[in-house]
Amino acid sequence: MIPLLSTLLLLVATAQHALAASDIALKPCTVISPTSERFFDLNPMRRLPPSESDSKKKKEGEEGSWHAKGYDYNANFTINFCGPVVEELDEVQELDEKLWRNVSAFYERGSKQWAIGLENSEPIFRGRKLILNYTGGSLCPSSSSKSKRALDTREIIEGDDDDDDADKPSKEKPSSERRKSTVISLLCDSDPLAKTSISFVAAVDDCAYFFEGRSPFACGGVHQETQALGPGGVFGVMVMIAVLVYFVGGCVYQRTVMHQRGWRQLPNYAMWAGIWRFFSDMFIILTSSCARFMPSRRGYSRVSLGQDGGRRGRRNEDEDRLIDNLDEEWDD
Ligand SMILES: *[C@@H]1O[C@H](CO)[C@@H](O)[C@H](O)[C@H]1NC(C)=O
Ligand SMILES: *[C@@H]1O[C@H](CO)[C@@H](O)[C@H](O)[C@H]1NC(C)=O
Ligand SMILES: *[C@@H]1O[C@H](CO)[C@@H](O)[C@H](O)[C@H]1NC(C)=O
Repeated sequence: MIPLLSTLLLLVATAQHALAASDIALKPCTVISPTSERFFDLNPMRRLPPSESDSKKKKEGEEGSWHAKGYDYNANFTINFCGPVVEELDEVQELDEKLWRNVSAFYERGSKQWAIGLENSEPIFRGRKLILNYTGGSLCPSSSSKSKRALDTREIIEGDDDDDDADKPSKEKPSSERRKSTVISLLCDSDPLAKTSISFVAAVDDCAYFFEGRSPFACGGVHQETQALGPGGVFGVMVMIAVLVYFVGGCVYQRTVMHQRGWRQLPNYAMWAGIWRFFSDMFIILTSSCARFMPSRRGYSRVSLGQDGGRRGRRNEDEDRLIDNLDEEWDD
């Protein structure tokens, strides 16, 4: 019975564990480092539109999405994590209007906007680097604006490491179908006062944009759901270990030092025996008092002693007589 029960419990535990493992894969914008097994959740880095974040206390300068100064690029960048930018776009160049709501990074020049990537909720690890990339932005500048020679070298350089879907048509029609994309390398900032920040690193041919993000949310942690035991479970295990240590240690002590054997090896045997006796006595008292209230036995339980004694006596006489009769029959 006990081995069966423990196997059952083990099965339940493994099933729960498997379930938790599949949950990880389902939750968007989270990733587990393949090298350190740490769990990264980038969702807190997402800036929400004012309507959704009204309830939270709003700090100054936290309006809109994240901003990165462009310096010599001649445009500032607006970026969001784990979702599209908060700002409403109205003049995105060379991008299907249906996708304007999906833009996760863009820059603005005058009144025109260029998307440099659509939302992506799958951060990846390249070695120990946490990377988030956005693809499928506005079209890259066409070949007409550049010399053919410069374009060809770019194709060769970038052709090696870019395997995006937006990239594929470009092999047939050079440059005309290449779309702007963004790569963000996220670094851990473990300073307790640290805030998320993002800075522009480089832009290659107005087509690929690189950023570096620093955030306490990029430091990783332990996944809550992978912890098999909650605080209650940990306490239970501790209590169980304490009880086990008490009994095993007590047994060893009683056996080797006090030279007790059998049940007396148990630590504080007298006390446990006393408790056991108390409960068994209580049980007997309770059951007998319950029995007294049972209507069927009520009638003769009051006079049980006398009647019972009388009955037994009579039965004994009956038996004696019977045996005597049998003896007589045998003698014949
Ligand atoms: C970028 O933002 C800074 C302030 O953060 C501003 O001074 C600068 O003019 C902006 N650049 C462009 C091209 O809008
Ligand atoms: C764009 O966002 C909508 C929801 O706002 C979503 O249903 C759709 O799949 C997204 N498209 C892409 C290409 O991400
Ligand atoms: C961009 O991210 C996707 C997963 O979200 C990955 O499959 C792809 O290889 C990445 N591309 C680059 C250029 O890093």
